[in-house]
Amino acid sequence: MAGSEQYPSGNPRWLLAELTYACPLQCPYCSNPIDYAKITDELSTEDWLRVFKEARAMGAVQLGLSGGEPLVRKDLPVLVKYARELGYYTNLITSGYGMTEAKIVELKEAGLDHIQVSIQAPEKELNNFLAGTESYEHKKQVAHLVKKHGYPMVLCVVIHRHNIHLMTEILEMAIELGADYLELANTQYYGWAHLNRDQLLPTKAQFEQAEAIAQGYKEKLKGKMKIYYVVPDFYEQRPKACMNGWGTTFLTIAPDGTALPCHEARILPGLNCPNVREMSVSDIWLKSEAFNQFRGFGWMKEPCRSCPEKVKDFGGCRCQAYLLTGDPNATDPVCGLSPDRAAIAEAIEGARKDYEGGEPKPLVFRNGRTSKALSG
Ligand code: SF4
Ligand code: FES
Repeated sequence: MAGSEQYPSGNPRWLLAELTYACPLQCPYCSNPIDYAKITDELSTEDWLRVFKEARAMGAVQLGLSGGEPLVRKDLPVLVKYARELGYYTNLITSGYGMTEAKIVELKEAGLDHIQVSIQAPEKELNNFLAGTESYEHKKQVAHLVKKHGYPMVLCVVIHRHNIHLMTEILEMAIELGADYLELANTQYYGWAHLNRDQLLPTKAQFEQAEAIAQGYKEKLKGKMKIYYVVPDFYEQRPKACMNGWGTTFLTIAPDGTALPCHEARILPGLNCPNVREMSVSDIWLKSEAFNQFRGFGWMKEPCRSCPEKVKDFGGCRCQAYLLTGDPNATDPVCGLSPDRAAIAEAIEGARKDYEGGEPKPLVFRNGRTSKALSG
């Protein structure tokens, strides 16, 4: 096994159950795998219940129910109810599309703790364009219903070049919807977002302007709304501690039962990801090759290997390192000490050319459709 010189691996605390890749929306920054349509063999209700039980027995306390669109799964209330009985804090991560008041009530009765609704943009035309589906009014309605039924109102907006100029409007929309929490999640460039990177990555000036606006509202709304600004790492000098360190905290189960140390791990070459249909969660976490591959520091190359900051960032993100350098063991090129830092400069330059060159490439949506953007 590759990992050694261990940092404590502990037990999984966060279980992310990607219940399905099916989704009525078609966002061009979707984090699902590019070939998600080939993965159709979804886990049964019984499989999920067993996974919840096994992960809880190992100490997992937070359960994220996501997708695709988790509302597509008809057994969602059954899953929520069982998870709640096991003692999980349950989060539904949804586009809101397909939610009704009756479902909100049913899920509340099943014990759901938390609903996060995503909105693409604070304007109808742009939201519907980015979602690839008429969904704006419905999403806003769902946000009101979430509030009405006593859930914390958690709003998520993924930020990229086609909505970053609307930061003030996004924040005002969150106020209007009575959001308790607002997550401003700068796009992470994996999956479909990686494919559309030139078309989605904002310029540094755009980031800085948007961040200043968000910080201003953060101050203004102290005590009323919590704003999480997920920083865009392409303009940083140090990488994020992805997944809080590989195999330390997070366990993701894909719709077909593949167990992943991070939601993108399928892309890493040679990573033999186990499946909950064949292994117990305990064996997956403790013994599988995939979960041990980048655990600890033993797998690292220089400059990470001898760097004192490795205990803080674990060398950054393995998937980003692979996508940008072709080597999953490389230092994440976001790091200013990485010999591959030029890959970040190239990405920024590719996006600049797309933005300023007068001939922007069309966005590729999750259903393969391509379309010129409305703005950007
Ligand atoms: Fe982190 Fe590696 Fe950069 Fe050091 S060299 S700061 S460990 S990514
Ligand atoms: Fe896979 Fe960061 S997304 S390690």
